[in-house]
Formats: sequence, structure tokens, C-alpha cells
Amino acid sequence: MQVYLDNSATSWPKPTSVIEAMANYLNNFGGSPGRSGHKFSLLAAREIFEIREIIAELFNLADSENVIFTSNATHAINIALKGFLKKGSHVIISSMEHNSVYRPIWFLKEQGIIDFTVVGCDNNGKFNLDELKNSFRPNTKLVVSIHGSNVFGTITQLKEIGFICKEKGVAFMVDAAQTAGFIPIDMQKANISILAFTGHKKLFGPSGIGGLCIDGNIDIATSIHGGTGSKSELDAHPDFYPDKLEAGTPNTVGIVGLKAGILYILNKGIDNLRKQQTQLTEYFINQLNEIDEVILYRPDTNGERLSLVSLNIKNMISSDLAYKLDKNYNIMVRAGLHCTPQAHKTMGTFPLGTVRFSIGCFNTEEEIKYTIESLKKIVLI
Ligand code: ALA
Repeated sequence: MQVYLDNSATSWPKPTSVIEAMANYLNNFGGSPGRSGHKFSLLAAREIFEIREIIAELFNLADSENVIFTSNATHAINIALKGFLKKGSHVIISSMEHNSVYRPIWFLKEQGIIDFTVVGCDNNGKFNLDELKNSFRPNTKLVVSIHGSNVFGTITQLKEIGFICKEKGVAFMVDAAQTAGFIPIDMQKANISILAFTGHKKLFGPSGIGGLCIDGNIDIATSIHGGTGSKSELDAHPDFYPDKLEAGTPNTVGIVGLKAGILYILNKGIDNLRKQQTQLTEYFINQLNEIDEVILYRPDTNGERLSLVSLNIKNMISSDLAYKLDKNYNIMVRAGLHCTPQAHKTMGTFPLGTVRFSIGCFNTEEEIKYTIESLKKIVLI
């Protein structure tokens, strides 16, 4: 048996419809959108227009022109932070942030451009809201939070944080890399100003495609200048979304795949897919509880969690367990710090890290049973 349990790194397999849509674009109308006026170019542009509309509706963003395509969530977050923050800005982040947020924030501070405050999260990944309220300064321009922890599966209380940001008149940015396509996100209800997502995880697109959804009042400066297919007579890069933040030929094949991935989710129902994956995760956790040697980092979230489990085996280094699972049992997981040392520090698993088993909607109960049996064999050796 082969078991892929690394869906938080990238989801696999992809729905057949995603592969077919990408092949159809490459085989039948592989033109460059928004550039030439011929039929292939127009067909590609129509695909891109349609998916901007679908994404805007998915996240309840008022204007689909404020959907920006990027290579991934990290690219999106960098564009947003570096284009929105100004010299002297103060930023508040959580203690669960991925390096995709933490490193650019740290870099901007090192450059003397911004200052930042880290607000602690509890073992359930929830912001300490009193600490958050006390962290605002007159120059606070942005609060940034991960939505779902890629390491522990905890979920941040977006609505409460968004409400506080609105009261304070400060923009709120959410890293939805792990949750877009898994948990419904309503940008307007949660007062989210900037949402960063990736296409290749729970949205079932290929790697190399992600994006930003930007509230109309938020001004993110252009960092990459170049051809947009619009206003070509001007020296200056266009100052309207999406062109303002999209220079150069887009990843049309990736965008087409992402569209098919999102349509797959909408067709199955986001709640149905989440329920199925959550049930499998709970089943896995219940079985793991019966293995004494397993140290489970299990947030007490009342069933509200991502479909992943972080654990260690007593007296075993996380990378050794991942290696044994892969080599001897054909089970693929991710060990170590998962590019998120801050979350491991918050939960007390730094620097050794954990082994993460992340479940996708194509995993089965048989695969989970096999994984449990394999773990039992490993702890006996
Ligand atoms: N951030 C991704 C992960 O957690 C890559 O594996």
C-alpha cells in the first residue's frame, strides 16, 4: 500500500477534472490572456475573468478585479507586506505564524522599515485578545494572522480579531494557505482587508498558483513593474487592480487548473468535504490514543480543526520516524519544524519538531488503519 499523508504541504492526488482542464488549455487554446486580440488569447482571458469572479464569490470579496494572481501564498504575502507597509509602520502578528509571514516581517524590521509585536496564542491556537488590544500603537498599520496552523491544525478566531481591527481602524491580513477551500471564509463578515491563499493545497490546483484578495480601500504599491497588456503607451505601471500587482505573462495553465479545483470543491460542497476529512482525522486520533508511545499534540478544539495531526514517538527523533514510515511502509508525511518555528515555540516542540500526518479528501479509512498498524510495528522494534 502507498499512503500520501502530506496534504498540508501540497494536496495529492488532484481531481481528474483539474488535470483535464489544464490539458485542454495546453492542447486546445494555449494563448496569452489580455495581450493579443485573437481567439486563443480571448479564450484564455475569459477563463481568467471567470475565475476571478468565482474566487471573489468564494471569499465574499466585493470586486473581482481585486483578486490578484501570484505564484503561491508566500509570494502573495510578500507583495502585500512590502507594498502596504511604509517606513515607521507597526505590525502585530501572532505567535503561530509560518515563515511566509514571519520572515518578511523580520526582514522589514531588520531593514529599519517597520517594528512589530508578537501576540501570544494559547494551546488551541487562539489569540490572546486582551494582549492583542493592548498591542496597538498610534502607528499600527496592520494585524496579520494565520487562519489555520499548518503544524497543529488549530484555527484562529478571525471574526473576533477582525472586529477588534475594525474598531481600531487597522487593516487585517489573513494567511489562508491551509484553510482556503477547507473552511468558508467571508472577508466582509470577518473584516478581512487582505487575504492571501495558495492554489495547490485545499483548493486542489497545481503548484505555482496562489493569490491575494484585497479590499477596495487598501492600497498596495506595485513592487514588480512591467508589461500588463494595458496602458502600454504610458511609462508608468498601471495603478489599478489587478494590473497594478500583476506584471508579465500569468500562469494561465495554473489558473485554469485552479478554476477546475475550486469548481470541484463547490460541486462537492466545502462543508461535505470538511466533514469527511474531519471524521477521518478524528478516527486517526482515536486510534493513536491507544498507542502509549505516541505523544499527541492534540488541541482541545471541540472538533474544530484542520485535517492534520502532529505527534512524536517517545525517544525517537521526528525525522527518523518520517524516514521509517516512508522507507519501510510507503507512508509519506512531513517531519521537523514545517517552516513554522514560531508555532513550535508556542506549543513547546521547538527545536525538535513533530511528525505531521495531513489528511486529504482522497484518503481512506483503510489507509489510516494501515498507518496505525505501521506505527504500532515501529514502536515495537
Ligand atoms: N507550509 C507547507 C507545509 O506546512 C509547505 O508543509
